[in-house]
Amino acid sequence: MHRRQFIQTIGISGALAVAGKISAQTAPAPGTVTPSAAPDALVKGTPAVFAPTPDSFTVTVPLAADALVWLEYGETEKLGSTAKGDSFGFVQHDDTVVKIKVRNLKPGTRYYWRVVTKPAFPYIGSQKPVLREPVPETRSQIYTTKTLAPNARKTQFSVWNDTHDHNETIRALHTARRADDDFMIWNGDMSNNVNDRALLPGLYVCPQGVDLAEGPPILGTRGNHDVRGLWAGRMSDYVEYPNGNRPFYAFRSGPIAAIALDTGEDKPDNHRSYRGGAAFEPIIREQAAWLEEVIRRPEMRDAPYRVVFCHIPLRWTDESPQDYEGKGFDRYSLRGRLAWQGALVKWGAQIIISGHTHRHALLQPTKEFPYTQITGGGPQPKRATVIRGHADAGKLKVSVIRMHDGVSLNDLEFEPLTKVA
Ligand SMILES: [Fe+2]
Repeated sequence: MHRRQFIQTIGISGALAVAGKISAQTAPAPGTVTPSAAPDALVKGTPAVFAPTPDSFTVTVPLAADALVWLEYGETEKLGSTAKGDSFGFVQHDDTVVKIKVRNLKPGTRYYWRVVTKPAFPYIGSQKPVLREPVPETRSQIYTTKTLAPNARKTQFSVWNDTHDHNETIRALHTARRADDDFMIWNGDMSNNVNDRALLPGLYVCPQGVDLAEGPPILGTRGNHDVRGLWAGRMSDYVEYPNGNRPFYAFRSGPIAAIALDTGEDKPDNHRSYRGGAAFEPIIREQAAWLEEVIRRPEMRDAPYRVVFCHIPLRWTDESPQDYEGKGFDRYSLRGRLAWQGALVKWGAQIIISGHTHRHALLQPTKEFPYTQITGGGPQPKRATVIRGHADAGKLKVSVIRMHDGVSLNDLEFEPLTKVA
């Protein structure tokens, strides 16, 4: 995309974002849309949509106090349906965060939804105090999102990487979002080592001043910083993945088949800095076995375009060995490549889209590595990039765009491997 066109896109997206913003509202009649400015004291920040599939999506709601939480949703702003109740028969409640999955949806369909909260304490199962007044319910603004469309003739997406909690960069990426993207890949290193539990909502769901629920649904991958720190294991309380909430998954969106892989840490599991807390080598082996099964699925095997997302690239410009006893770390995941490349090449992977190195690089296919490898830029506003993809019957186009000036650093095109239906 040329600079002028990109700036126009920001303008349109920004305008849509402003037009779509409705403030929180308190207990209107069900099915009505009545904007008001009343804040919801039970929630800690804005929600976010994760893990779109052809028949579901999941909304994460960070909480400030004990609350019962459910969603109202429907194909119009009148909503009409309710996602209420988890697999154990509870209306979901917590004092920190809930994730609510909306199921049994139609593929490629736009849905409207809002969050409803109600104080949980001391009402659940309690005979006291005797309730004479109804417990107040608070409703969020109405948002909209779309399920994935595996049979669509075209699709488009954006990729963020290595935002590292840089609020200015996240704001710029969010402002430049495209309203018609089918999904956004947040390709790892959202955090800087997770040693403070209080940071979790802001890292993954509600960055300051950014309402992620206004944007496309999010599909995440984990970066090496997202797996570091005492509270890193709680990322899955906030981020939902589509494969039974494992951090690796495969999906179709129109003519693109995509595989998201978890590259784990950037040093061996027995590295002294992990103090015995890393077990990423087993999960890399598990993904190797999983890949052999995934690439045989008809919707993956026969897809016109084949794309891989993973935080640490599988190739790099300098592959010299690292001194792990010193300050060495992996610029590329050799252990991932050794485990996965056979299946990925057999499948016909055309491009691997990564971050991690904090600079944009393009490695063209070779005989040994018959796939393109690209990485985006770094977390600072001057270095940040957004990677954009668009696929239709003719081509898969991937552009790496520098955020601060809209300059396209690389525009790549891929031919379809099979005919677009
Ligand atoms: Fe990073």
